[in-house]
Amino acid sequence: PIDPMSVTFQPATGGMNPSGPVLSRRMSDLEGLFADTAAWQEARDGADPVVYEVASSPVPEAPGELPQSITTIHPGTVGGEFHMTKGHQHPNPQGEIYFGLSGTGGLLLFDGTTPKWIPMAPGVIGYIPPGWAHRSVNTGDEPYRFLAVYPGDAGHDYGWVLEHGMGWRVRRGAAEPQLVPFRSEPV
Ligand code: 6PG
Ligand code: NI
Repeated sequence: PIDPMSVTFQPATGGMNPSGPVLSRRMSDLEGLFADTAAWQEARDGADPVVYEVASSPVPEAPGELPQSITTIHPGTVGGEFHMTKGHQHPNPQGEIYFGLSGTGGLLLFDGTTPKWIPMAPGVIGYIPPGWAHRSVNTGDEPYRFLAVYPGDAGHDYGWVLEHGMGWRVRRGAAEPQLVPFRSEPV
């Protein structure tokens, strides 16, 4: 266990102070995620932009602890599909709480049968029940940022989403984001 502590959120950058590790996911790290493989390759071979960053607090991923992280997803689309996180299951099924900090996005959940979509904005608390895979999507034109709090022994399984998908894909629509069946071909 670590001592009682506070962490200051840095609104301009999505950083934390004090901070643990900061992870950066570029387009090249997101192979196999976007439906339009040609558009993904073009983005990767071009600027290979940072799609999202995850800053973690110093709280360790250990049983009984409640680690926190702040994810910033930069705006953009790949073949019409909004920028998103890889998505994962917690292999030791436990709940997780998200809290919207800035920008506009959504939380896509999938239990292997039924997809769910929770629109996220500053002040919204999104709840992920045990056993639901989750992916975050930036549906706006500015960085979408949220706090996540999860049990320290939940673990992260990325293979599950590659195998099962997330039920839906989230595409830019004329006004609202479009939720389209996951296995459909790029439009
Ligand atoms: C977690 C949270 C969250 C998530 C990031 C990045 O369990 O730690 O769900 O912090 O990890 O938003 O998403 P990916 O882990 O799917 O890349
Ligand atoms: Ni999670």
